[in-house]
Amino acid sequence: MARKPKPMQSEPMPSKTAQPTTVPVTPVAAENPLAPPTTVGAAVTPPAQLSEAELAAKGLELFNDASLSGGNKASCATCHFSTGHTNNKTYVGLDVVADGDPNGRNTPTLWGVGERAVFGWAGQAATLEDSIRGIIVNRMKGAEPSKESLAALVAYVRTLNYPKNWQVKDDGTPSADASAAVKRGYDLYVGDGGCGTCHQLPSFDKKSKDDIGTGGKFKVPTLHAAASTAPYFHDGRTASLRDAVKLMWEFYAKKMESRLPTEAELDDLTAYVGAL
Ligand code: HEC
Ligand code: HEC
Repeated sequence: MARKPKPMQSEPMPSKTAQPTTVPVTPVAAENPLAPPTTVGAAVTPPAQLSEAELAAKGLELFNDASLSGGNKASCATCHFSTGHTNNKTYVGLDVVADGDPNGRNTPTLWGVGERAVFGWAGQAATLEDSIRGIIVNRMKGAEPSKESLAALVAYVRTLNYPKNWQVKDDGTPSADASAAVKRGYDLYVGDGGCGTCHQLPSFDKKSKDDIGTGGKFKVPTLHAAASTAPYFHDGRTASLRDAVKLMWEFYAKKMESRLPTEAELDDLTAYVGAL
């Protein structure tokens, strides 16, 4: 991320807590008349020289700060539970809805989000900044975030990586001591299942969208950590990973007029995807 060498901008930002001009200045502002205006969730505006680590630390605070949302209803961590992962729920706005609701969106993990190029299930945001801004303003009904708050949140979520996995190497191939099922599953993944054409190794996503018959074009999501991101698909339509894998193979077989898997093959492919 490009860091601005110039001092902080000082034009007023729209804010729900902006004081009317008739209210006396707060003691903090009196002590430092040059302090830039603050916005909700950005009580302290970081100076321009913050290191990436300091910015990320600020971002972690904001990530747990419910004042980013209208009415202090939720923080990022409410839904991206467990260090930026997912609480496994499907939402419309801030309301939990039944998995499979066509308007619902299932909470994606933020692990590995720094490596993605398409954000939101429908790929509605081109950058991480746009994605987070849209979530604060539209989903959380919060005040317009300051540039500094956005930069801090982006820096924080970029630090969230996938856990290391002993069965699968960094290039996506099974390690020597992976289980036999995982090894067979990998062969199906890059072979007859056709999965690798969309969920490409080693990121297991694709930088674009596809229509797989789930109600429109959706981004090809990463399959890293899929074992713990249930429910599956944009609307959370399948509860088990095996059912998600089955739906995908059936889609691919229909599209390519190729064969369907046996039950044992579904088990193996699920073992491989579940090990990612
Ligand atoms: C009410 C639950 C909820 C809250 C609160 C929430 N998110 Fe999300 N987040 C979601 C859902 C659901 C999606 C998928 C949205 C979509 O596709 O339209 C999402 C998507 C994202 C994405 C895009 C990830 C991707 O791979 O496409 C990012 C980044 C993100 N959230 C970060 C944040 C940050 C940062 C905050 C706090 C400012 C936050 N979220 C607050 C539920 C939530
Ligand atoms: C034509 C491209 C394409 C192919 C081939 C494909 N997928 Fe997908 N996959 C997608 C898209 C697009 C989605 C998201 C659709 C949605 O959310 O409605 C998806 C979603 C998934 C999900 C749900 C992920 C989550 O986090 O919710 C799993 C699991 C999955 N695919 C596994 C597979 C497997 C296993 C194969 C091979 C049998 C495969 N896919 C083949 C495009 C593809």
